[in-house]
Amino acid sequence: MDYFDYQSGQLYCEQVPLTEIASSLGTPTYVYSSATFLHHYQQLAKAFAPLDPLICYSVKANSNIHILNLLDRAGAGFDIVSGGELARVIRAGGDPAKVVFAGVGKTDQEISQALQAGICFFALESAPEAQNISRLAVAAGKKANAILRVNPDVDPKTHRYITTGKKLTKFGVNLEEVTAFFEKYSDLPGLNLVGLHMHLGSQITAIDPFVEALTKMLDLVDTLRARGHKIEWLDLGGGFGADYQTDTVPLAPAYADAIVDMLRDKDLCIAIEPGKFISANAGLLLTRVVYVKESGPKRFVIVDAAMNDLIRPSLYDAFHFIWPVQPAQGFVPPARTAEPAIDGLLKVDVVGGICEPTDFFAKDRLLPPVQRGDLLAIFTAGAYCATMASQYNSRPRAPEVLVDGAEHKTIRRRETYDDLTALE
Ligand SMILES: Cc1ncc(COP(=O)(O)O)c(C=O)c1O
Repeated sequence: MDYFDYQSGQLYCEQVPLTEIASSLGTPTYVYSSATFLHHYQQLAKAFAPLDPLICYSVKANSNIHILNLLDRAGAGFDIVSGGELARVIRAGGDPAKVVFAGVGKTDQEISQALQAGICFFALESAPEAQNISRLAVAAGKKANAILRVNPDVDPKTHRYITTGKKLTKFGVNLEEVTAFFEKYSDLPGLNLVGLHMHLGSQITAIDPFVEALTKMLDLVDTLRARGHKIEWLDLGGGFGADYQTDTVPLAPAYADAIVDMLRDKDLCIAIEPGKFISANAGLLLTRVVYVKESGPKRFVIVDAAMNDLIRPSLYDAFHFIWPVQPAQGFVPPARTAEPAIDGLLKVDVVGGICEPTDFFAKDRLLPPVQRGDLLAIFTAGAYCATMASQYNSRPRAPEVLVDGAEHKTIRRRETYDDLTALE
C-alpha cells in the first residue's frame, strides 16, 4: 500500500500532482512520499511489537539524510555497511546507539569511526575481522559489542544476485563453524560477543525461508548457551519483500506471525533490518518521453531517465511498473502488473539514452500509446535506485523530492555540469 494514486485521471503523490513537480523541477526526478515511508515502518513496528524489536532501517536502500531523519523521528535505528552511511545517520540526527554495522570488508578507519561513535554492535563476518576489531577496540581503550553473522545455508528463493544466506556466498560464518568460532574468539580482549545475526537476501516473498533459517539459528542459540556463551541478541536481518506488482508479497503480519511465535519467551533482544519493505514503494522516478522510435517490429519509448538513475532492471532483471502520469481516458491501471487487462495497449521497450544495450527499464511491456513530451512514472523506485545512481555518460544525478501531504520539498538538488567536474 502506498500514497501514489490516480485522481481525476492524473497521478498524485499524496496531495501533490506529479505534473506540478515535473513543471517546477524538470525530469528525471525521484519523488518520495513521507506518509508511505511512515506507513510501512509502522506496519512492521506493529506486527513485530510482541518482540519489541530494534528496527534498524537499512540505510543502503535509501540514504538521503531527510529520509533517515524522518525514520529516526518515527523511532527507527539503522543498519549500516560503511563509514559513509554512519556519517549520514549522524548528520540526520540518528542515534549511534541504535546502529548495527554489517559488511564483509570493514576497514580500520570505519571500525575506529564506529567505535568512536558508540554504535550498538558490529555484525562480524569473519575471524580476521573479529581479531581486527578487538585489536582496534583495545587500542582505543574500548570494548566492542559484536554479534556473529551466521550463514544458515537457506535458499531465500529470490534472484541469485540478491541471495546472501546460502553457502559459498561471501557473507557470514558457516553454521557448522559457529560453535568453534565462539570457543576461539569470545574471549578476545576488545570484543563483547553477545549474539547472532542472519540476513538471507532481499525481496524474499516466501515465509518458509525465514522459518527454516530461524529454526537453525535457535538450535544454535541453545547449543551456544549450553556451552556457557552469552547470547543476548538475535538480529534477523532484512529481506522482507516489497510489492513491485500489486499484491504479490506477504503483508507485515504474515512475516511476523511466523517469526514472533518462534521467538516468544526465548529471552533474546531482537533486531530486524528492513530496507526495501519500508522504502521501495515510497518512491517513484518521474521521467519524460524524449522520442518514440519504431524499428521493424519494435517500438521503443526513449525517456530522459536512464540506467544511471535506476539500474535494477539492468542489474537484476528487476520488474518496475511503468505508466503515464496523465493516461488518456480509460487507461488508468486497475493494478500494477506486467499485463494490465486494458484494451488498446501497445507492446514497447522503455529505454534510456545511454550507450549500452542494457540501458532499459522494461522490455515488451504493454503501455497506453504515448508520445514525445508525455510524463511516465517508474514505480517502486524508493529503494536501491537513487543510492545506486551514477553519473555514467556524464549525466548529472537527478534530484529527490519529498512530499508531505500537500507540500513538497527538494531534499537533494539536481546536479549541475559544474558538479560533474568539481572534484577533478
Ligand atoms: C545485512 C543487511 N541487512 C539488511 C539489508 C536490507 O535488505 P532489504 O532491503 O531487502 O530489506 C541488506 C541488504 O542487502 C543487508 O545486506
